[in-house]
Amino acid sequence: MRRYGPSFCLPSGAVRRRWPYLRACISFAVGAIVFCATFVAAAQQAGQAAAPTAGPEFAGSEMCATCHEEVAKGFAENPHVKMAQMHGANGVTCENCHGPGKEHAESADPSKIFNPSKATAKEVDAKCLSCHRVDHANFQHSGHGDANVSCIGCHSIHDGEDRQQQLKVAQPALCYQCHTDVKPQFSMPFHHRVDEGAVSCSDCHDPHGTFGRKGLRASAQQDAVCTKCHSETAGPFVYEHAVVKTEGCTACHFPHGSPNPRLLNRANVNTLCLECHSPSMNFTAGEPMGPTHNQATQYQSCTMCHSDIHGSNVSPVYFNTH
Ligand code: HEC
Ligand code: HEC
Ligand code: HEC
Ligand code: HEC
Ligand code: HEC
Ligand code: HEC
Ligand code: HEC
Ligand code: HEC
Ligand code: HEC
Ligand code: HEC
Repeated sequence: MRRYGPSFCLPSGAVRRRWPYLRACISFAVGAIVFCATFVAAAQQAGQAAAPTAGPEFAGSEMCATCHEEVAKGFAENPHVKMAQMHGANGVTCENCHGPGKEHAESADPSKIFNPSKATAKEVDAKCLSCHRVDHANFQHSGHGDANVSCIGCHSIHDGEDRQQQLKVAQPALCYQCHTDVKPQFSMPFHHRVDEGAVSCSDCHDPHGTFGRKGLRASAQQDAVCTKCHSETAGPFVYEHAVVKTEGCTACHFPHGSPNPRLLNRANVNTLCLECHSPSMNFTAGEPMGPTHNQATQYQSCTMCHSDIHGSNVSPVYFNTH
C-alpha cells in the first residue's frame, strides 16, 4: 500500500476510470494521513469501495486457470500473488495485468485479451506503471524509457531466471545482452568485480532511471554513487582536493575497469596530476597551482608524498598524516 499507492488493488478498467481521482489524490498527498483520507473520500465518491470483482467484465483467476493451467500453477510463487493476498484473495490477479477477460474466457479468442508481448513499449509501461509509478517515477525519462526498452525488455512475469526480481536473465548477463560494449571493461586487469558477483550494475545504476545522468544512483551530493561504498573518500575535509568535489571521481578513475591500478584513467599517476598541475602553466585566479618543485623530470610518484589525495583534515597538500 505504501509503495504502490491506492490503484494497485484495482482492475485496470477501474484504474483508468478512477485515475483522475487518484491523480488528484496523489498530488494532494503531502503526508500519509492526508493521502489515506483523500483516497477513502475518493473511493466513497466513486460509489463503491475498491472491490475489484465488481465489474461483470471480469472472469476471475480461477476461470483463467481452467485453460491456462501451466501458467496458473507457475504463478503460485510469483510476488504478484501478493496482490490477491493483500486484498482478500479477490480473484482477479491475472486480470490486473491482462485486463478484463470475461469475453476472452468465454470465446477463447486470443484477440480479446491484452497480451503485453504483442503491445507497444509505451502500452506495457503504462500498464506496469499503473501500480509501480511510485517507485519508478523516473522511468519514462530514463535512457531505457526513451529508447523504448519497456519493462518486459528486462522483466519476465511468467518465467525468467531471477524469479524474485522477475528478471528474464540475472545481472550482469541481462545488461550485457544489449550493452555488449560494456562487457570487456569488466574484464580489464583492474575492475569492479561485477562478473564475480561482488558488485552489481544496479549498485551504481538504476535501470529505471534517476534524476542524475546515466541513470546513476546519486543523491544531492554529486558522487554519492561512489562514496556509499568508499566512504573514506567522501569528506568533508578541512583541506579538500577541490577537483574531487567539482569534477567527481571520474576525473581520475574509470568507473568500470581500467588497464591501470586503482582504476586510474592514466597509466602514470604523474601524468594524471600534471594535466592539471602543469609546472609551466600560466597561473590565473582559480586555476590549480603548479608544483613549485618540478617533479616532471623526476621519477617519483606524486602520491608518494601527496598520499591523502582525496583530501585531508591536517595537511593542505594532502601528506600522509596517519
Ligand atoms: C476457455 C479457455 C480459456 C480461458 C477460460 C482463458 N483463456 Fe486465455 N487463451 C485461450 C486460448 C485457446 C488462447 C490462445 C492460445 C494460443 O494461441 O496458444 C489464449 C490466449 C491467451 C493469451 C495470449 C493472447 C495472445 O495474444 O496470444 C493471454 C494473455 C490469455 N489467454 C490470458 C487469459 C486470462 C488472463 C484468462 C482469464 C481471464 C484467460 N486467458 C482465460 C483459452 C482460454
Ligand atoms: C504482473 C502482471 C501479470 C500478471 C499478474 C499476469 N500476467 Fe500473464 N503476462 C504478463 C506479461 C508481461 C506477459 C508477456 C510475456 C512475459 O513477459 O512473460 C504475459 C503473458 C501471458 C500469456 C501469454 C504467454 C505467451 O506465450 O505469450 C498468458 C497465457 C498469460 N500471461 C496468462 C496469465 C494468467 C493465467 C495469469 C494469472 C494466473 C497471468 N497471466 C497473470 C503479465 C502478467
Ligand atoms: C495491479 C498492480 C500491479 C501491476 C499492474 C503490476 N504489478 Fe508488479 N507488483 C505489484 C505488487 C503488489 C507486487 C508485490 C510487492 C511486494 O512484494 O512488496 C509487485 C511486485 C513486482 C516485482 C517484484 C518486486 C520485488 O521486490 O520482489 C516486479 C519486478 C514487478 N512487480 C514488475 C512488474 C511489471 C514488469 C509489471 C508489468 C508487466 C507489473 N509489475 C505490473 C503490483 C503490480
Ligand atoms: C533495463 C532493464 C530494466 C527495465 C527496462 C526495467 N527494469 Fe525493473 N528491475 C531491473 C533490475 C536489474 C532490477 C533489480 C535491481 C534493482 O533493484 O534495481 C529491477 C527491479 C524492479 C522492481 C523491484 C525492485 C524495485 O526497485 O522496486 C520492480 C517493482 C520493477 N523493477 C519494476 C519495473 C517496471 C514497472 C518497469 C517498467 C516501467 C521496469 N521495472 C523496467 C531492470 C529493469
Ligand atoms: C533490451 C536491451 C537493454 C537491456 C537488457 C539493458 N539496456 Fe541499458 N540501454 C539500452 C538502450 C537501447 C539504451 C539507450 C541507448 C544507449 O544509451 O545506448 C540504454 C541505456 C543505458 C544507460 C545510459 C542511460 C542514460 O540515461 O544515458 C545505462 C547506464 C544502462 N543502459 C544500463 C543498463 C543496465 C545496468 C542494465 C541491466 C540491469 C541494462 N542497461 C539493460 C538497452 C538495454
Ligand atoms: C562502480 C559503479 C558502476 C558499476 C558497478 C557499473 N557502472 Fe556503468 N557507469 C558508472 C559511471 C560513474 C558511469 C558514467 C561515466 C561517465 O560518463 O562519466 C557509467 C556509465 C555507463 C554507461 C554509459 C556509457 C556511455 O558511454 O555513455 C553504461 C551503458 C553503463 N555504465 C552500463 C553498465 C553496466 C551494463 C554495468 C554492469 C555490467 C555497469 N554499468 C556497472 C558506474 C558504474
Ligand atoms: C557497491 C559498492 C561499490 C560502489 C558503489 C563503488 N565501489 Fe569501488 N570498489 C568496491 C569494492 C568492493 C572494491 C574492492 C576491489 C575489488 O573489487 O576487489 C572497489 C574498488 C575500487 C577501486 C580500486 C581500489 C584499489 O584498492 O585498487 C577504486 C579506485 C574504486 N573502487 C573507485 C570507485 C568509484 C570511482 C566508484 C563510483 C563510480 C565506485 N568505486 C563505486 C565497491 C564499490
Ligand atoms: C584528483 C584525482 C582523483 C580523484 C578526483 C579521485 N581519486 Fe581516488 N585515487 C586517486 C589516486 C591518484 C589514487 C591512488 C593513490 C595511491 O596510489 O596511493 C586513488 C585511489 C583511490 C582508491 C583506492 C584506495 C586508496 O585510497 O588509495 C579508491 C577506493 C578511490 N581512489 C576512490 C575514489 C572515489 C570514490 C573518488 C570520488 C569521491 C575518487 N577516488 C576521486 C586519484 C583521485
Ligand atoms: C582534474 C584536475 C586535477 C587533477 C587531475 C589533479 N588535481 Fe590537484 N588540484 C586541482 C584543483 C582544482 C586544486 C585546487 C587548487 C586551488 O585551490 O588553487 C588542486 C589542489 C591540489 C593540491 C593543493 C595545492 C594547493 O595549492 O592548494 C595538491 C597538493 C594537489 N592538488 C595535488 C595533486 C596530485 C598529487 C594529483 C595527482 C594524483 C592531482 N592533484 C590531480 C585539480 C586537479
Ligand atoms: C618528495 C615529496 C614530493 C613529491 C614526490 C611531490 N611533491 Fe608536491 N609538494 C611537496 C612539498 C614538500 C610541497 C610543499 C608543501 C608546503 O609548501 O607546505 C609540495 C607542494 C605541492 C603543491 C602545492 C603548490 C606548490 O607548488 O607549493 C602541488 C600542487 C604539488 N605539490 C603537486 C605535486 C605533483 C603534481 C607531484 C608529482 C608530479 C608532486 N607534487 C610530487 C612534496 C612532494
